[in-house]
Amino acid sequence: MAACCVSVAVMANLSSSVVAVPPDKQSVAVRKDSSTAPAVQSKLVLMRHGESMWNDLKLFTGDVDIPLTEKGVEEALAGGRAVSEIDFDIIFTSRLVRAKQTALIAMTQSKFKRVPVLVRGGFYGKGKTGDANRIRLRDAAAKALETAACRMVPVYADPALNERCYGDLQGLNKAAAIAEFGEETVTRWRRSYDTRPPNGESLQDTYVRSVGFFNSTIEPRLKEGHNVFLVAHGNVLRCLISHLGGYSDLEMLRLQILTALPYAYLYNGNEFAECCILPPRDDCNIPLINMPLGVSSVLKKAELDSLI
Ligand SMILES: *[C@@H]1O[C@H](CO)[C@@H](O)[C@H](O)[C@H]1NC(C)=O
Repeated sequence: MAACCVSVAVMANLSSSVVAVPPDKQSVAVRKDSSTAPAVQSKLVLMRHGESMWNDLKLFTGDVDIPLTEKGVEEALAGGRAVSEIDFDIIFTSRLVRAKQTALIAMTQSKFKRVPVLVRGGFYGKGKTGDANRIRLRDAAAKALETAACRMVPVYADPALNERCYGDLQGLNKAAAIAEFGEETVTRWRRSYDTRPPNGESLQDTYVRSVGFFNSTIEPRLKEGHNVFLVAHGNVLRCLISHLGGYSDLEMLRLQILTALPYAYLYNGNEFAECCILPPRDDCNIPLINMPLGVSSVLKKAELDSLI
């Protein structure tokens, strides 16, 4: 675990660490002459949004649409600087404004000067219903991707990546939630995989929709060789990181996902290799000076806020 604080910016040098296709998976690969076909070599960066106004007030936020604080904006800039040397071809966010803000602010730091464009209707162009103006805006964004005289990067916002809905807990702080429902019950809702708070989702519900979307929509893009930037939420990233790393339910519950810290992977068409997984660790004594800001600012957080 010496690689605790490897900078994401150096990940381009880590391509030799890509895991070879294991023999048992080769049989399902598309039949191609592998000696001439270029190997897929794409990058995936997962990032939680920067601090939101309800993170700051320590309220259960869930899928309530709360924007970033000033500190959250700075975290998004720092996270963006940490991944500025990766040329993203496609961006996925949740439908919530704090994820969209974080992605767009982070992209201002990119070395590649691509212009992000939010494409209405999401990746599949759903939402054909709606008023004529909405449909016109959606079509205009999609057309601009094809015709603009600059390099663009599409941003697809999908509710499958929204934060776990905490139902009736949303808007309460921990003390108010405990006063209303009892400490044991609140702890069970927060710490178990498959219990739902009233009118909310279990972590399992969040896992099924977010990993399902990853499987159906994101991994195929990586397979096409596209670099993907995904900005979402604490519980969604818990699910995706656990899926990619094969973690148990308990390990998933224990994962603490820091704000605006990039988690980077290299993908070779079959396997994901972790490039920069930075779990908070008490024994992580790596000096923070000279670290990319996106990393140092989050490691400096004294107390981990698990009200996510
Ligand atoms: C995602 O795909 C993997 C195989 O790559 C499969 O094992 C898993 O069940 C899928 N998960 C969901 C939630 O669709």
